[in-house]
Amino acid sequence: MTRTPPTPRRALITGGASGFGLGVARALLDQGASVAIGDLHAGRLREAAQALAAGEQLLPLALDVTAPDSVRAAVSACETAFGGLDTLVNSAGVIRITALDDISEQEWDWVVGVDLKGVFLCSQAAAPLLRQSGRGRIVNLSSDAGKVGFPNIAPYVAAKHGVIGLTKSLAAELAPFKVTVNCICPVGTPETTMGQDVLRMKVSSTGASAEQLMAATAANVPLGRSGTVEDVVHAVMFLLSDEATFLTGGTIDVDGGLINTAPIRGTAG
Ligand SMILES: NC(=O)c1ccc[n+]([C@@H]2O[C@H](COP(=O)([O-])OP(=O)(O)OC[C@H]3O[C@@H](n4cnc5c(N)ncnc54)[C@H](O)[C@@H]3O)[C@@H](O)[C@H]2O)c1
Repeated sequence: MTRTPPTPRRALITGGASGFGLGVARALLDQGASVAIGDLHAGRLREAAQALAAGEQLLPLALDVTAPDSVRAAVSACETAFGGLDTLVNSAGVIRITALDDISEQEWDWVVGVDLKGVFLCSQAAAPLLRQSGRGRIVNLSSDAGKVGFPNIAPYVAAKHGVIGLTKSLAAELAPFKVTVNCICPVGTPETTMGQDVLRMKVSSTGASAEQLMAATAANVPLGRSGTVEDVVHAVMFLLSDEATFLTGGTIDVDGGLINTAPIRGTAG
């Protein structure tokens, strides 16, 4: 069977200067898409634009997902540059490891602001263009921490659970306009900026080496290894493909079986 090549997408990727967002940007550009990468970190954005070297296909944008004006300006820049928008990947995210007693109100507001409110603001601002496109897609980056609780990251766990709820609500509301909204729940990976930050925080709080911590994490995953950026990019690209038109409101757990299998490994029941 011969396949018609997919119509190139017009995408905005928040947090697109690093990690999963950058990986998705690269994969979309390879398909001929027009891609805006929006990020708060100016230096990272510059480096990403240089590394991607995609000419007019690429639009690097200064973006703060917590600031409505900044979000509206980014969506409007996409409309001007691409003539519309059919894809939003919400990948901007932050995390801090802090025990309950020490979480300040400021830290709570920051983490929940970027990780949950940011997804809401970007989805709301992009929705008119996504509806107009007749083939709109939103993919949100939640986490394994959006499915179960972990100690010392309460705001992150709360925000990532919220992203799954928001995904379901937006899926219901936007379905009449053929906009699908789905969510990816990756397991932690040391390959991204956030993954490296988490590793550093754990090294300083436990005294274990980075190598010991990475080995322990991999051993805990039923499929026996840590996740990679590529694992997540494959799942996002599937949700953006023409093969995924009938999927909405769902989550894909890219975690080697961590969340959906029993925690006692190597026993028969
Ligand atoms: N790396 C992991 O282990 C892991 C696991 C599960 C889920 N996730 C989620 O995946 C997403 C991407 O994570 P990553 O590992 O690629 O992280 P990353 O740190 O490599 O990339 C996130 C990007 O978001 C940007 N950002 C932060 N605050 C922002 C703001 N206010 N406005 C715009 N951009 C902002 C950062 O500058 C950074 O470039 C996040 O939502 C994260 O919570 C990551």
